[in-house]
Amino acid sequence: MALDRRAVLAGEIVALAATDASRRLGEAILALVGPGVLSFAELTALRRRIAGSAAIRSLAEQALVDFGCSPEHCRFDPPRLRAVAGGGHRDPAAVPAYAAHRDSWFANPRAQVNLWFPLDGVSAETTCVVHPAYFARPVRNSSAAFDLDSFEAAGGFGAGSSAPAHHPTVLEPFDRSSALPLLGALGEAIAFAGAQLHETLGHDSRRTRLSFEIRIIDERDAPPPNVDDACRGSTLPGYLRIRC
Ligand SMILES: [Fe+2]
Repeated sequence: MALDRRAVLAGEIVALAATDASRRLGEAILALVGPGVLSFAELTALRRRIAGSAAIRSLAEQALVDFGCSPEHCRFDPPRLRAVAGGGHRDPAAVPAYAAHRDSWFANPRAQVNLWFPLDGVSAETTCVVHPAYFARPVRNSSAAFDLDSFEAAGGFGAGSSAPAHHPTVLEPFDRSSALPLLGALGEAIAFAGAQLHETLGHDSRRTRLSFEIRIIDERDAPPPNVDDACRGSTLPGYLRIRC
């Protein structure tokens, strides 16, 4: 089934069936990860390797085309690996990785569609959850303090515990009763708007939760209304064209 971006950008969360390319993409990323728990430095190096791999880019492009993305109109951000080890949420330096947020608070395009792919160790207790009740509902947040240029100058997501970079998050208690866990099998994907409020769950499983995301933008899409984003900048210039 082709990806219905209009439905996703209206707030729906849509499961996509595996294709040959999406399955091979997942297998290729898993093969690079290997066994064992990754340190932050190892994870950062691995993310760079994935982002720079021509073979993975080619599989990602084929998977996007299989999902109905247009090489003419779509741009994408290379696969971003997530590795969430048991107990990781107790490390004070890792707090930003678990903070509820909208990607649009990090200067991602508001019309961005996130494709989330499970790899290993994914369960309702270990995964990422989306809070669709807040798609069109504002929540008090710190996005006004986010400036993309300052964030990147401070090392961005790769800066680790030394990061002075501001990670926007929710500044008030919020209702988690609509939380929808992202689940699936290797090669499957779940599409949700980058403007959805979402968060990574801390867990104590012995298996590291592994997943990755590909963020896409289609120039023909209208973004959902801005309900509470006050950040500065745009990540769009870094997105890639599909070449296949
Ligand atoms: Fe996110």
